[in-house]
Amino acid sequence: MKCLILLAALLCAVNVYAAEVEVLHWWTAKGEVEAQGILEDALLEQNIKWNNFAIVGAGGESAVRVLQMRALSGNPPDVAHIKGPDIGEWAKVGMLENIGTIADTSVWPEILPKIVRETVTFDGKYMAVPINIHRVNWLWLNKAIFDELSLPLPTTWEEFFANADKIQAAGYIAIAHGGTAWQDALLFESMALSLLGAEKYKQAFVEYNEAVLTSPEMIYVFEQFKRLHQYTDINMRGKDWYQASQLISNNKAGMQFMGDWAMGMWNTQGKKAMVDYICIDVPESKGLFSYNIDSFVFFEKNGTKNSGETQRSFVNILLSEKFQAEFNLAKGSIPVRRGINMDKFNQCAHKSFTDFNNGQLVPSFTQNLASTSHLQNIISKIISNYFNNPSADAATTVNSLSLAIRAIKN
Ligand code: GAL
Repeated sequence: MKCLILLAALLCAVNVYAAEVEVLHWWTAKGEVEAQGILEDALLEQNIKWNNFAIVGAGGESAVRVLQMRALSGNPPDVAHIKGPDIGEWAKVGMLENIGTIADTSVWPEILPKIVRETVTFDGKYMAVPINIHRVNWLWLNKAIFDELSLPLPTTWEEFFANADKIQAAGYIAIAHGGTAWQDALLFESMALSLLGAEKYKQAFVEYNEAVLTSPEMIYVFEQFKRLHQYTDINMRGKDWYQASQLISNNKAGMQFMGDWAMGMWNTQGKKAMVDYICIDVPESKGLFSYNIDSFVFFEKNGTKNSGETQRSFVNILLSEKFQAEFNLAKGSIPVRRGINMDKFNQCAHKSFTDFNNGQLVPSFTQNLASTSHLQNIISKIISNYFNNPSADAATTVNSLSLAIRAIKN
């Protein structure tokens, strides 16, 4: 008997997994962890163990830095959460697997929207697997506070500012805002897209057209952006986005500009769209959609291919219909794969889906979809310094911004 128990304990201690995969990411807030758990479980069903390499910090600035160090020392993780132009940067140095050599990507043109395929393509090859589509330019409202103060849903900036004054006068925080450079820049992006429109936004933050970057219109955007500061809570400075989103679910703040990953967190708290919180377009942004596409890359390990059966299963799970439905429900995003049954998705996800398919799409520069994370971090810091320095001036800031971009691009 004693021997049997010992044997069982021994067997349990022995690695019974077909494979283990180390994954670097920054999904550490409540809804994100839940969504990641769905992936972990799906892999486990295939006997693949997920080794979690999670680095705290929204926007992934710290995660990307750690990844660079690991890669430089010749020990990258198997898989990493890398998005947008960063995919090309890693592919250029020859560290990534071509997804086409891992799995059958011939169906991708049928099942994935063009813009999604383009985002993960480098040099004509798919170098990352897309997972979801997040919308960044949302304005979230706390329903209880809006009801109590009988506030209209703001469609213009003037209505927005009038609401903000009333919310503040009633003793609530008008704008839930964590105040890290990443969040400051996200706030700016939402306002800039609204005031500039899709074309000028792209000229400025995708093409880096100097005339647009330093135009009187851009100076106006910066001036309007600064008006938002007085409605944020100074005690929240340096807090992460989910701590700001908590102010919405606690009925402490009236509004928040944030991507729809916030819904993922509110879901875990049992909060319901249109009952507890309302999603609306950022004022004066109807039809404008700033997108963020999460994706995973597969690293070559010391020149050894990382493209066996385990990797194939991983890729196939990510794009399977079941996973796409379950993961995106938890994450607050919409499926990246076409034809997924969205019956269980809430009104905000349905709105996102409709707007993604019919609206004007722009890549979110704050989410690294328009430039490399290196450039994005510098742009975000300039925006954040301006936002938080009462004496900083808009005209000087647009010049610094354009000079910094030119210096990095050249
Ligand atoms: C983004 C990421 C999202 C989201 C957010 C907050 O960079 O693409 O998936 O979770 O950070 O952590």
